[in-house]
Amino acid sequence: MADLKSQVMDLLRTINDPEIAKDLVSLNMIKNVAVAGGVVTIDIDLTTPACPLKEQISREVTARVRAIPGVTDVKINFGAQVRAEARQGGGLPNVKHIIAVGSGKGGVGKSTVAANMALALAGDGARVGLMDLDVYGPSIPLIMGVQGMRPEVSEKANRIIPVERLGVRIISFGFFVPAQEATIVRGPILAGIVRQFLNDVEWGDLDYIVVDLPPGTGDIQLSLCQMIPLTGAVVVTTPQDVALLVATKAITMFNKLQVPMLGMIENMSSFLCPHCHKSTDIFGHGGARAAAHKMNIPFLGEIPLDPAIRFAENDGVPIVRAQPDTAQAKAFVEAARNTAARISMKVLGAGSDDLDRVMAKAATLFRGARTAS
Ligand SMILES: Nc1ncnc2c1ncn2[C@@H]1O[C@H](COP(=O)(O)OP(=O)(O)OP(=O)(O)O)[C@@H](O)[C@H]1O
Ligand SMILES: [Mg+2]
Repeated sequence: MADLKSQVMDLLRTINDPEIAKDLVSLNMIKNVAVAGGVVTIDIDLTTPACPLKEQISREVTARVRAIPGVTDVKINFGAQVRAEARQGGGLPNVKHIIAVGSGKGGVGKSTVAANMALALAGDGARVGLMDLDVYGPSIPLIMGVQGMRPEVSEKANRIIPVERLGVRIISFGFFVPAQEATIVRGPILAGIVRQFLNDVEWGDLDYIVVDLPPGTGDIQLSLCQMIPLTGAVVVTTPQDVALLVATKAITMFNKLQVPMLGMIENMSSFLCPHCHKSTDIFGHGGARAAAHKMNIPFLGEIPLDPAIRFAENDGVPIVRAQPDTAQAKAFVEAARNTAARISMKVLGAGSDDLDRVMAKAATLFRGARTAS
């Protein structure tokens, strides 16, 4: 009979990653298996520290390994190694993924989602940057509590050092262009600034950069997306029909630019009254989930409408960090983990057929929507 260690390895070859139809061994996720008496210790490397399926993997592996005769206990140590995609040129060599957060219209909560997503990923142990490209009204400095700051420039190499706060490296238009002048900055200058954000900023080694895009789907957004090698985009919407309709514009834009769609987030979903604890759907609820489903786009999560989210921003510490135990903070964490999972799936080539189908289906739907309007 094979020794216990090889029995464990054989078993692990039959356990699939819950989202990907490949087993943990072929996915290179098993770093080590050690056996001491009846105690089996397994080191598992996840593809992101923000893995939403960690508990599930842990439960399944523990239960199945425990069932091997002779095993008395199972210990699992999780590590994480974010993997980059194979890229040809371009991009930032030390940054594994750049995620754009966009929306068809303003005020739906892009900056709120971008900041909380960055903090949630960092909270899970990822190395994270936050790039604020909102030329019209850069709000990241306020939200992250770094308003009025100016990044330092390293004397030696003349590189811009991002402002670090709450464990996230931040660069914002707001650090360079005074708010009142932002809207009159012309296209070519904007392009120059974005190029600097990419080439002259000392981002260091990062797993993810979250990019807060300006609202809308105009030329600026187009050129920004073209200049940045994006892993994918997240579209934020509110539940109203009108907002959903504009969200499809953003999806069309990313589609045109061949930026993969990571998914949709519904912000300002139901309102949970802090006094009577009753949930009210002020703008409706679930519309984004249904729309995403119809378009075959992943739905990443819904964030409740709650003044505490705004208060936290005004205090310069977003809710994910200010009140991590609230349902509101957990909603952001869940959406961030789902986003990280989509990226991992993409890198592992899981369901690339699925992803292609998603894009193709979305494209047809939008063509239909445009002809109809
Ligand atoms: N879920 C929420 N509950 C309560 N308030 C929210 C929520 N999400 C965002 N807000 C508030 O709504 C306002 C707009 O949000 P935010 O600035 O994130 O939107 P935006 O899409 O980035 O806007 P813009 O298009 O101007 O960049 C802010 O005051 C923010 O604090
Ligand atoms: Mg904004």
